[in-house]
Amino acid sequence: MVRFDTGCACCRDDFYDYEEWLMDAVTIVGHPLVRHKLSLMRDKTCSTKSFRQMLNEIGTLLCYEITRDLPMEEITIETPLMQMQAPVLAGKKLVFAPILRAGTGFLDGMLAMVPSARVAHIGLYRDPETLEAVEYYFKAPQDVSERLVILMDPMLATGNSAVAAVNLLKDKGVKEIRFVCLLAAPEGVEKLRVAHPDIRIWTAAIDSHLNDHGYIVPGLGDAGDRMYGTK
Ligand code: URA
Repeated sequence: MVRFDTGCACCRDDFYDYEEWLMDAVTIVGHPLVRHKLSLMRDKTCSTKSFRQMLNEIGTLLCYEITRDLPMEEITIETPLMQMQAPVLAGKKLVFAPILRAGTGFLDGMLAMVPSARVAHIGLYRDPETLEAVEYYFKAPQDVSERLVILMDPMLATGNSAVAAVNLLKDKGVKEIRFVCLLAAPEGVEKLRVAHPDIRIWTAAIDSHLNDHGYIVPGLGDAGDRMYGTK
């Protein structure tokens, strides 16, 4: 892990400050339903169908948490009994931005919660040699720069895809981005946090580490393959 260079091995305070700073941006959604479903998904005997279904369901549950502090405004409505001021979401519709292909696993679950959200697709693949993210597709609403974007990928592993996706969105002028994943590696959290300190991260769990192939350990394997049965 990268650390602040304190120039002194005994400067433990800076070490702890750095860890705290990293985790400051992270919300671990430890709801029992999320933890239960994640454990079932990790199991290698979990079927493709169940894996995909639970990823969707967790998408719904995570969406509930990510949107917890959205701004509201009051409008005037008429109930069958009387007029009242009622709270509704303020501002432009959200944009859900799955990183292809595994990010789409969250999409329907999130759209179930916020059906009017717009969708941006971000196509990135991981070069197997360098593990760097390579862009192959980007399609977003024209006014994406004026909207809050929820960027999603089940696995925050090396962090390369997440950083590349945020770079792309920021290049389009997007000012407010939140990142959501199912599982994160400490390395990925650090990479994203250092590259984009303004981005908050929501995850169901942070695992131990990455292996030499860039897989999260203990993890759940390749999320895309497990969703679509391609391996
Ligand atoms: N992508 C995956 O699907 N799984 C990992 O463990 C890491 C990256």
